Amino acid sequence: MKKKGLIISFEGIDGCGKTTQANLFFEYLKESGLDILLLNEPGGTYAGEKIRDILLDSRNSICPFSELFLYLASRLQLVEEMIRPAVEKGTTIILDRYVDSTTAYQGYGRKLPIKFIESIHRTFIGSLMPNITFLIDAPAENLLPIIEKKKRDRIEEESIEFQKRVRKGYLAIARKNRTRVHIIKRKTQEQTHKEIVKEWGKFLNGLKDSAGFSLKSTKKR
Ligand code: TYD
Repeated sequence: MKKKGLIISFEGIDGCGKTTQANLFFEYLKESGLDILLLNEPGGTYAGEKIRDILLDSRNSICPFSELFLYLASRLQLVEEMIRPAVEKGTTIILDRYVDSTTAYQGYGRKLPIKFIESIHRTFIGSLMPNITFLIDAPAENLLPIIEKKKRDRIEEESIEFQKRVRKGYLAIARKNRTRVHIIKRKTQEQTHKEIVKEWGKFLNGLKDSAGFSLKSTKKR
């Protein structure tokens, strides 16, 4: 059987520090010599970056379903152009946001039908769902000062109630996918990173080689 690369995703509400953690984890795995790729959503392809600009531009007024389809369009470009070919080569992928972002933001945040979003993911993402997800969790009100400090994009301009619904959504996704989604309580940067590395170790122990995944090394023997 041909071995496939693993898909690791990082999720969380705005300001939770998931991009920092995805980067730290990427460096950590790279140092161990793993063949690895870091991607972030929305965007990551030529067409996807254009879609990202439309999505995050605060001057745009976008209706909820258009927003959903734009996020999905950006994702499917990334899947077909980058994720699928890399995974088939045995490369491990870290994603800074992926499928759960849409369920949490458009499903729970915008109140669009969750079953519909899940069914689109099943149809178009299929076997390229994440193998493991780190959900960096903190109450929305604690993260407000962080979002307020930066120039906010269209989504970050949403109310605190929206962010609270998204967090609730993430926790519901975690409850539904207990083996895949690991909730990491947001602490200091280092403590959070250590916790992620610890959970990763446990995941690797449980991952049988026969599961058909490869952790391909870039180091020559
Ligand atoms: P980005 O600048 O990448 O921020 P972050 O560092 O928080 O990931 O902006 C992405 C924004 O898009 C973020 O507010 C979450 C939102 N988003 C959705 O609403 N649905 C999605 O499917 C994805 C991938 C992101």
